[in-house]
Amino acid sequence: MLASSIAMDKVYAKIIFDKAKIKQSKYVYIRKNEKNYIYIDENFNEKEDTLDNICQIIYNKLKFPMFIKPSNSGSSVGINKSNNIEDLKKHIDYASKFDSKILIEENVVGKEIECSVLGNEDVKASCLGEIRPAEDFYTFDAKYKNSESKLIIPADINKELTNKVRKLAIKAFKAISGKGFARVDFFVNEKTNDIYINEINTLPGFTEISMYPKLWENDGLEYSELLDELIKLALT
Ligand SMILES: Nc1ncnc2c1ncn2[C@@H]1O[C@H](COP(=O)(O)OP(=O)(O)O)[C@@H](O)[C@H]1O
Ligand SMILES: [Mg+2]
Repeated sequence: MLASSIAMDKVYAKIIFDKAKIKQSKYVYIRKNEKNYIYIDENFNEKEDTLDNICQIIYNKLKFPMFIKPSNSGSSVGINKSNNIEDLKKHIDYASKFDSKILIEENVVGKEIECSVLGNEDVKASCLGEIRPAEDFYTFDAKYKNSESKLIIPADINKELTNKVRKLAIKAFKAISGKGFARVDFFVNEKTNDIYINEINTLPGFTEISMYPKLWENDGLEYSELLDELIKLALT
């Protein structure tokens, strides 16, 4: 329960990843009250201000393009990419319709790479999968409506980076107190060799064509065997 609560709140997941020293996009977060917005600094001090002034604070801290996300959401709902202050204002207002807590992140350049993890104490990491979204980023439509979005298994990145990502996936899963299973999502920049964590999904897509089971299938663990394994872990 704790792991899912953390993972489903993007801001709190970020705070834990920081503590675990796992690289991630630079970010700030804000909250909306009835009239205004509240900027929350690294030490949890709050400053209430108008949207215009809050955008100015964000602009002084982060570079465009930025991703604006409701802290509690999923399937890319409420998420937009902002290229300037006008976008930023509009996108914060939009995100606030889904959650009063809003995360603003710098854009990360790299391949979208995902790893399945499985286990309670002895956690195993699968091979990696790569997402090639059909749009500028992996939006709701690119995920569920656009068949031009592709899953590449195994991901086309070198062995050294692959092993690093797999280790980080287990570390991140343990850092949020994960048990059972999760899909850990990253951005991997092959030019700089940087690996950024994006998020952990503690209830990943689980149809027969979803990334989570497909990664295990590629490693030789069939869908039904995976279910047996999950039931065993749950019983333990
Ligand atoms: N900081 C970022 N840099 C680059 N792309 C991003 C960033 N954050 C999100 N994205 C893009 O937006 C998509 C959805 O964001 P994500 O945080 O994964 O939300 P959700 O929980 O809805 O899946 C990602 O799959 C990726 O394509
Ligand atoms: Mg995601």
